[in-house]
Amino acid sequence: MTSWKETPLKVKSRKIFSPVLWFFVFSLLAALLAPMAGAGNPGAAVLSSELVPLPAPRYDSQFSLEKAIKTRQSVREYKEAPLSLAEVSQILWAAQGFTRERKEPPSRWNPKYEWQGGLRTAPSAGALYPMEIYLLAGKVEGLPAGVYKYIPKNHALKKVTDADKRKELCQAALMQPQVEKAPAVILMAGVYERTSYKYGERAERYVHMEAGSIAENIYLQATALGLGTVLIGAFNDAEVTKVLALPADEAPLIIMPLGKMPAPAEKK
Ligand SMILES: Cc1cc2nc3c(=O)[nH]c(=O)nc-3n(C[C@H](O)[C@H](O)[C@H](O)COP(=O)(O)O)c2cc1C
Repeated sequence: MTSWKETPLKVKSRKIFSPVLWFFVFSLLAALLAPMAGAGNPGAAVLSSELVPLPAPRYDSQFSLEKAIKTRQSVREYKEAPLSLAEVSQILWAAQGFTRERKEPPSRWNPKYEWQGGLRTAPSAGALYPMEIYLLAGKVEGLPAGVYKYIPKNHALKKVTDADKRKELCQAALMQPQVEKAPAVILMAGVYERTSYKYGERAERYVHMEAGSIAENIYLQATALGLGTVLIGAFNDAEVTKVLALPADEAPLIIMPLGKMPAPAEKK
């Protein structure tokens, strides 16, 4: 006699939900949901994409810090020569590279973002690191033109677009010609939410202070490498955001063109 446990309906459902079928259902769901797991977490999306590795930065040189401080200046004209990938790598490391490891995120870390796992070259309120660093590459040896985001964790670049955006960025920066002429341009964008999650309204000033610290690192490193740069604060926020298609939580704060220093006679 068939017990109530073995009614046709029950037998049928047991077949349908066999372990093999469950496996396929779960695999399909995982594949469908994987892209959404990175939504709102730029880091997660970044790490799953292809990265362009940068040469390792160097941590020493014959150019003294005192000399870099003494000779730092804003430079708005550059040689036409391309930058090397090593120069770009060194600048990006000076801006936001890792100096020491820290596996665990600091207190009050906004869980919307990925903790990258290290402390960096510039100070940051609560070690919350709200700055994203973009590189607009025009003439950089070994790097196709385009816009890239610097990923400190990997000391690598993640391509954002193949398009050379220097001309459009120049227009958004009130036609300051150095933005178009420089072989490469750095753009700093602040993510206020990372800092306001812990510090509330005070975050705005903290993020701006940090942008200044990072800019000075870039100035000093550029000086030591024989490169020129200038901190550009005069630009149209909405236009810069549009040109670079910045995510909604990123605000453009500083533009810094980069190029080889012209010989003294070439300087105007
Ligand atoms: C907040 C800030 C905004 C600036 N914005 C611009 C700018 O939009 N364009 C520019 O050519 N220089 C800009 N500068 C650079 C200053 O003009 C420059 O630092 C100043 O003339 C002193 O020269 P020095 O940097 O060579 O010592 C800016 C500097 C700061 C600190």
